[in-house]
Amino acid sequence: MEDTTQPLLEGYQLGDLQLKNRIVMSSLTRGRATNAELIPTPLMAQYYAQRASAGLILTEGTWVNPKSIGFINVPGIYTRQQVEGWKLVTQAVHDKGGLIFSQLGHIGSASHPDFFEGELPAGPSAVNPQTRSFTPEGFKDSLTPREFTVAEIKQTIQDYQLAAKNAQEAGFDGVEIHALAGMLIPQFLSLATNQRTDEYGGSIENRSRIVFEILDAVIEVWESTRVAIKFSPAALSSVGIMTPDEETIPVFQYILKRLSEYNLAYLHIVGPAEDLSGTPVAELQDNYFSHFRQNYSGRLMANLGFTQESGNAILKKGTADLVSFGTPFIANPDLAERFKYNIPLSESNQDTIYTGGENGYADYPEAEYSDYVK
Ligand SMILES: Cc1cc2nc3c(=O)[nH]c(=O)nc-3n(C[C@H](O)[C@H](O)[C@H](O)COP(=O)(O)O)c2cc1C
Repeated sequence: MEDTTQPLLEGYQLGDLQLKNRIVMSSLTRGRATNAELIPTPLMAQYYAQRASAGLILTEGTWVNPKSIGFINVPGIYTRQQVEGWKLVTQAVHDKGGLIFSQLGHIGSASHPDFFEGELPAGPSAVNPQTRSFTPEGFKDSLTPREFTVAEIKQTIQDYQLAAKNAQEAGFDGVEIHALAGMLIPQFLSLATNQRTDEYGGSIENRSRIVFEILDAVIEVWESTRVAIKFSPAALSSVGIMTPDEETIPVFQYILKRLSEYNLAYLHIVGPAEDLSGTPVAELQDNYFSHFRQNYSGRLMANLGFTQESGNAILKKGTADLVSFGTPFIANPDLAERFKYNIPLSESNQDTIYTGGENGYADYPEAEYSDYVK
């Protein structure tokens, strides 16, 4: 029997966009832009269109300029050809009645000279983030980067704006700024990777400056209700030295207060993957999403490890407005229908997450509904 008591399946008004449900497909880097120009392909259009029954799709993290690259076969949104490629994607999703935001990203110092003809990547400071970069020759350790000049920071902000314009031209419904731990923006927020002494370093206000300069630049192009940002303040692994520090909570306190004035589409928060006890953010262990709910007055999207049950529960409780799902969308293109009819989820093949062309990408079938719909 169809379950009519699931808040995940309710429509939702997101600014002037009407979402058909509150299930969001969160960004999944899948490494299928397998061409030197990093142009989105028809296969990618097919893959995203298969997932159009989500209330909203967020694209994989997408490079805002050539200096932002740090992972193989990830598409960009800074050239004409890339914009043309994205048009295929947005058209295919819209044809199936879906909505799609472009996720705009920059990996900063967590890249590798292999992407820059031997030149070092740049970051807030010349500090090795101690992460790994997926290069054409496999995973390689990060190095000590070059420090951005102020002029380069300003140029990068302009590049975000141009990427946002390109997203508009490509037919996207909005943009999400990728600020997960490990990426350029959190490299500025982190005490470990930002040792600058100018207006982009030192105080909480200075280290957070780039967040607002990027948002302000993007909001000159898009209505604020079509602009979102995604953070993972409690990420403990795979982020090198950019783990939470003693200023993480005050930094986010400051950011949330200011973001509350922006009337954004939503604030996207990734939950903790591990136990936070003994870490500088231990106090968030038992009230994680309510903490963000209390300190941010706009729409909140919750992420990480949600299931049909826990997704419905957090919406029912009112602690979030939308729930995003990443991994479940890999092998379940029809995730919304599976929730609707309580159909078991399929598991994805780990060997084809980042490689394999169509295999393990656009070939996961929808469920056999006749078995479930009476
Ligand atoms: C293969 C893979 C690629 C991902 N790529 C991105 C990305 O490009 N941008 C991003 O913000 N998050 C990315 N994520 C994180 C997901 O969007 C999501 O936050 C995370 O998987 C937790 O949600 P889940 O438990 O529903 O999978 C990726 C996750 C996976 C598994």
